[in-house]
Amino acid sequence: MSLLRITPSSHLVSSRLLRLSIFLLLSLPDSRGKAIWTAHLNITFQVGNRIISELGESGVYGNHSPLERVSGAVALPEGWNQNACNPMTNFSRPEQAESWLALIERGGCTFTRKINVAAEKGANGVIIYNYPGTGNKVFPMSHQGTENIVAVMIGNLKGMELLHLIQKGVYVTIIIEVGRMHMPWLSHYVISLCTFLAATVAYLFLYCAWRPRVPNSSTRRRRQIKADVKKAIGQLQLRVLKEGDKELDPNEDSCVICFDIYKPQDVVRVLNCRHFFHKACIDPWLLANRTCPMCKCDILKT
Ligand SMILES: *[C@@H]1O[C@H](CO)[C@@H](O)[C@H](O)[C@H]1NC(C)=O
Ligand SMILES: *[C@@H]1O[C@H](CO)[C@@H](O)[C@H](O)[C@H]1NC(C)=O
Ligand SMILES: [Zn+2]
Ligand SMILES: [Zn+2]
Repeated sequence: MSLLRITPSSHLVSSRLLRLSIFLLLSLPDSRGKAIWTAHLNITFQVGNRIISELGESGVYGNHSPLERVSGAVALPEGWNQNACNPMTNFSRPEQAESWLALIERGGCTFTRKINVAAEKGANGVIIYNYPGTGNKVFPMSHQGTENIVAVMIGNLKGMELLHLIQKGVYVTIIIEVGRMHMPWLSHYVISLCTFLAATVAYLFLYCAWRPRVPNSSTRRRRQIKADVKKAIGQLQLRVLKEGDKELDPNEDSCVICFDIYKPQDVVRVLNCRHFFHKACIDPWLLANRTCPMCKCDILKT
């Protein structure tokens, strides 16, 4: 059974498969929408007269953020909470900084809203830290309508660390740089692709196994010839060699198929061309070749 044989009825299957593959290709997720870009944060602050700077891949860019480098002094929302949902929120921006980034906590309102509040106050970028209890987990935020300002999310622990430093009066600056791209959908897509391939193979296999076997004309002819050959073999003479037969003379030929000399009690088949061989040797040979191994005469033609 050949899986790739194209018969008129398998066109139906191939066109169905073709349509399915096109559907899968079209449903391939759009890479810009789903790719995740990490953000490298270079955090610099001064303790005593030591400048400390730490670099880490600690954030991810929001889905609607420009993928750009941005830097500045970090400023907190003033007032009793850090969520910057109130449009009147003021930020404690240090006077010496010409460029500043707003550090805001997640929650209270949408990402879009708090990012817009910071942007309207003149922030050059927005860093949002995750809910308490989420450790350093981050995800790409959705914040439609704020496409002109860089927005990244960092983990809650990192955010609290920065918050406490700034609340203690430490001057913190951060450089946000584009990190690496992750494609979480890729592994998902590979899994679907493998499932699809497995299903295709199973489908083809079942299809071939269950299809009513209607032999086409060439297989029918081949079968007919095979039956004729079997019949012709059956009509060829069989002999049992006995002591004294001239075939047992050691100077005579041995069987050309097994190279063994003939012995008494051997069953030989004699072909129409008078050549003979062990029955056990010549029968399978004739079924496969139809001709005498010595003179090539065709057993169907004589
Ligand atoms: C981080 O920023 C500081 C200040 O701009 C700079 O001196 C330092 O080299 C940066 N560190 C890295 C690893 O880029
Ligand atoms: C922000 O500052 C302005 C001007 O100093 C002030 O009028 C306003 O009430 C402040 N907003 C908040 C939420 O405190
Ligand atoms: Zn033989
Ligand atoms: Zn022969």
